[in-house]
Amino acid sequence: MNKFQDVQQHLLQHRYHWLVTGAAGFIGSNLVEALLRLGQQVTGLDNFATGHRYNLDLVRDAVGAEAWSRFSFIEGDIRSEADCTTACGGVDFVLHQAALGSVSRSIDNPAMTNEVNVTGFLNMLVAARDAKVKRFVYAASSSTYGDHPDLPKIEERIGNPLSPYAVTKYVNELYANVFGRTYGMESIGLRYFNVFGPRQDPNGAYAAVIPQWVAALIRNDALRINGDGETSRDFCYIDNVVQANILSALSASEAANQVFNIAVGDQTTLNQLYETMRGLLRGQFPHLDAHQPQYVDFRRGDVRHSQADISKAGTLLGYQPTHRIGEGLQQAMAWYVQHLAPSESTNAQTNKQ
Ligand SMILES: NC(=O)c1ccc[n+]([C@@H]2O[C@H](COP(=O)([O-])OP(=O)(O)OC[C@H]3O[C@@H](n4cnc5c(N)ncnc54)[C@H](O)[C@@H]3O)[C@@H](O)[C@H]2O)c1
Repeated sequence: MNKFQDVQQHLLQHRYHWLVTGAAGFIGSNLVEALLRLGQQVTGLDNFATGHRYNLDLVRDAVGAEAWSRFSFIEGDIRSEADCTTACGGVDFVLHQAALGSVSRSIDNPAMTNEVNVTGFLNMLVAARDAKVKRFVYAASSSTYGDHPDLPKIEERIGNPLSPYAVTKYVNELYANVFGRTYGMESIGLRYFNVFGPRQDPNGAYAAVIPQWVAALIRNDALRINGDGETSRDFCYIDNVVQANILSALSASEAANQVFNIAVGDQTTLNQLYETMRGLLRGQFPHLDAHQPQYVDFRRGDVRHSQADISKAGTLLGYQPTHRIGEGLQQAMAWYVQHLAPSESTNAQTNKQ
């Protein structure tokens, strides 16, 4: 039995109280679902800034009535100290996901990103410290590597941030570290590399590349590739991220107050990603035979290449990714086809709540 199977067995026999912030978002809603399936009690906190009520409805429908009865939801804002305090009451583990994602959004509105990602983060740290939670696991980011040229990325070697978003995620790490030293609080930062999977929002100006492209391919809309398409990423399927969060909460203290790369260790260019996605959808959508991407300018603030060394997470957390990009894309495509096609207009109606 590997470490994650061990931990899952343990959870099935021991019920803890978890707080998932950003619970109505992509990663948060997947964490809620996984924890409820493991018999846990879960509180969710979200203000629906970028998340959606229908993500929680989908979780409710997926897990069934008994599991759903162990979930409670607080509509609140991490910029409010009071909301953070309320949410942390009686909680064993915090999985802090709430933030404003997207490099581009942070370039358009750095102050707003800072308020949520820095002030909100600090509020959550203080509330979790005062509630004496056992472990505070938070979403850090591969953007923290900034302009450091080394590949693969190793946790200890970072460069200068390339966007306001990257600054906020690095500040999170600094604050978490100081709370460890100053108050003896145990935290773990997970530097996610481009995560994808079901419930990631395909809509809006700041949508991530995979859901945005799936929607464009299915709808036969224009699909834009920034730059020459040779920009590369270490795309990480959501199940790997769920695994990393749960392992982090229950890992031994030697892993505490550190950051870990969470990805697969692969490197995929945007051109390769486009061809793989088109290939997976082509059978069902014949219009894709003639589909061509449009190449547009590079995006400001983007890192050119990204690939993780995941050995530290393997050694200290027992993290073993179960899905490489191909397997993850197959599952994600199937989900998007079901939810975006063919009765697109009906789905769009029911999803706008
Ligand atoms: N998706 C990725 O590839 C990726 C990569 C690196 C880091 N991350 C980090 O992972 C976390 C989750 O990202 P995601 O992809 O699920 O994004 P998401 O936008 O789907 O989820 C974020 C959630 O936080 C909520 N939120 C935002 N501001 C809030 C506030 N002030 N108070 C309460 N809730 C608030 C949103 O409504 C949303 O539901 C974020 O911290 C993000 O920075 C994501």
